[in-house]
Amino acid sequence: MHPLAITWFGHSTFLIRTPGGKRLLFDPWLQGNPACPAALKKPPQADAILVSHGHGDHMDDVVACARESGAPVVAIYELCDWLGRKGLQRLEPMNRGGSIDVAGVRVTMTDARHSSGYVDNGQMVYLGEAAGFVVGLEDGRSIYFAGDTGLFGDMRLIGEIHRPAIAFLPIGDRFTMGPADAARACAMLGVRQVVPMHWGTFPVLTGTPAELKSLVPAGVDVLELKPGETAE
Ligand code: NI
Ligand code: MN
Repeated sequence: MHPLAITWFGHSTFLIRTPGGKRLLFDPWLQGNPACPAALKKPPQADAILVSHGHGDHMDDVVACARESGAPVVAIYELCDWLGRKGLQRLEPMNRGGSIDVAGVRVTMTDARHSSGYVDNGQMVYLGEAAGFVVGLEDGRSIYFAGDTGLFGDMRLIGEIHRPAIAFLPIGDRFTMGPADAARACAMLGVRQVVPMHWGTFPVLTGTPAELKSLVPAGVDVLELKPGETAE
């Protein structure tokens, strides 16, 4: 088994190498992502691509990444349907509350408090609702990728059921929860480690890891990455 490796591409785009050596790409936004280092703009190798919702800052590069890697895309039903119309064939449509096995890991789609829609040919297209993911890894641990969301009480239930070791939580505020609510989320989830995301990309995303660090419960480690950086 490998150590879990987390690479941040900036914003909410992550490549995670699992203990079993599989590469999971979350919310691919590369070309237009101002936080993504130039060296990482090309679609990475991946074994599965997970998309939390249909906003461009989470999926503008999903078609390119799926074509380049050949990896299946896991997303909510309506988003997968739209990707199918764009020519993608390896799709794993699902919905919140369901679980599937993909690339050797167990993926559960969770609730998220957010919206979902994409401007396609000048029209706002409905792409289902926003979601998060719990991934059950090969070594028995779980990770929780919240996507874009506000705080919600059922994070406690996600904590009870899945006991995630690490949570990836948005902290930028305005479009998602900010640091104070993300700190509460850590307590509700019972996680020991949190990776802040959806911050710093634009000036309007004002939440910072420093604020989060000052607010998380004792014993919770804030893993602050720089775009392009990998942590094991
Ligand atoms: Ni969004
Ligand atoms: Mn977003």
